[in-house]
Amino acid sequence: MQKEKQVIVDGLTFVPYLTREQIAEQVERVATEIAKDYEGKAPIFLCVLTGAFVFASDLMRATGLNDSKISFIRYKSYEGTSSTGTVKQIIGLTDDIEGRDVIIIEDIVDTGLTACRMIEDLKKKNPSSVKFATLLYKPVSSQTGFTPDYVAFTIPPKFIIGYGLDLDGKARNMPDIYVIKED
Ligand code: IMP
Ligand code: MG
Repeated sequence: MQKEKQVIVDGLTFVPYLTREQIAEQVERVATEIAKDYEGKAPIFLCVLTGAFVFASDLMRATGLNDSKISFIRYKSYEGTSSTGTVKQIIGLTDDIEGRDVIIIEDIVDTGLTACRMIEDLKKKNPSSVKFATLLYKPVSSQTGFTPDYVAFTIPPKFIIGYGLDLDGKARNMPDIYVIKED
């Protein structure tokens, strides 16, 4: 790996992992799957703040589902580079989702705790269906057995930043994805 391509955030070194071109290609693939599954329907995309805002923006536009809507919820479970094991809801859902097809858009599924908690909360509001789209999925660290419906990339359990994903709020602006350097 070229040294100059490394980035340092909060004293931790990261190396390139997925390029913006690779990301765009997989976002397009997932969007095509969603467009096919929801043809003639008007789903509500539910973007999980903060990390998923970049992916949600690209994914929603790439589906071409012009009757769809977007809404936002916020949960927090991570501190630094690991899960705290506790999922806190920071911003709740304001829109009525009763009888609607909901597609949750998440940046990454790690332990699966956030995903399970969100789905449990949403099902109380009687949507007609709930599906889950994630940019990144770390199946090895899943503690819950949760499996997302749409996955752009399946990755090993390593800490990732960029394209919306952060280290304590930083690095969300980076157009490419970086992985923490181990050695
Ligand atoms: P889970 O509840 O453990 O599945 O974690 C989900 C949340 O933790 C995600 O929505 C992210 O906000 C955060 N997270 C998990 N892994 C990473 C990572 O590698 N980089 C940045 N944030 C992460
Ligand atoms: Mg998140």
